[in-house]
Amino acid sequence: AGFAVQLLTLFPEMFPGPLGQSLAGKALERGDWSLETLDIRGFARDKHRSVDDTPFGGGAGMVMRPDVIDAAIRSIPARGGEIGRLIYLTPRGALLTQDKVKEIAASPVVTILCGRYEGVDERVLQSHGAEEISVGDYVLSGGEPAAMVLIDACVRLLPGVMGNHTTPDEESFEEGLLEYPHFTRPALWRDGADKEWAVPEVLISGHHEKVKAWRRAEAEQVTQARRPDLWDKRVRRGN
Ligand code: ADE
Repeated sequence: AGFAVQLLTLFPEMFPGPLGQSLAGKALERGDWSLETLDIRGFARDKHRSVDDTPFGGGAGMVMRPDVIDAAIRSIPARGGEIGRLIYLTPRGALLTQDKVKEIAASPVVTILCGRYEGVDERVLQSHGAEEISVGDYVLSGGEPAAMVLIDACVRLLPGVMGNHTTPDEESFEEGLLEYPHFTRPALWRDGADKEWAVPEVLISGHHEKVKAWRRAEAEQVTQARRPDLWDKRVRRGN
């Protein structure tokens, strides 16, 4: 497959999960991408199969052991595989952006490390030159849902995956704008409180240029209102 993902996790049964459904799932079946899940616990050394230990310096929670993570990563080349780009998902990482997604989706092989507990021993991350990525400024209980987010965002960019859907570079996000609002039939809809909602007139006018201008204005307005950070970036880029 053009995009081979290897996933290191303590919860291999979570995968493919949602990635086995819908667009990503169909693409997986077609072989447009592949997913190999490695159970980190399988690389524990001692009889208790422990993968974590208490943090040096004290404090709450547990830290994943460097020797166990290292053994899991090294098992890939040991089986004749390639590690490719090594990504560690953590809220300490660089925020994931569409530009970063494009870059990762263009990599033939990606290895993703999902941490649990308080994190992973820093030394093994440095030793392997792991790239740290966050999917947002909030804390998940583990890297697994973040891995699903990252993989989904990459897979939809693979050639042929989107099919009839939006061309990714037609999306307003590519232009640094949020999407304009969408409407479908019925043109006049009555809600539960008996209120009537009409579709914006311009959308049924048949004037392609007017529709385009209206959508553009709506996208700009919603971006200014909700994401002044994105809007300022656009203004600084000169529209
Ligand atoms: N693990 C826990 N929270 C995360 C986040 N926001 N991004 C990536 N990995 C995480």
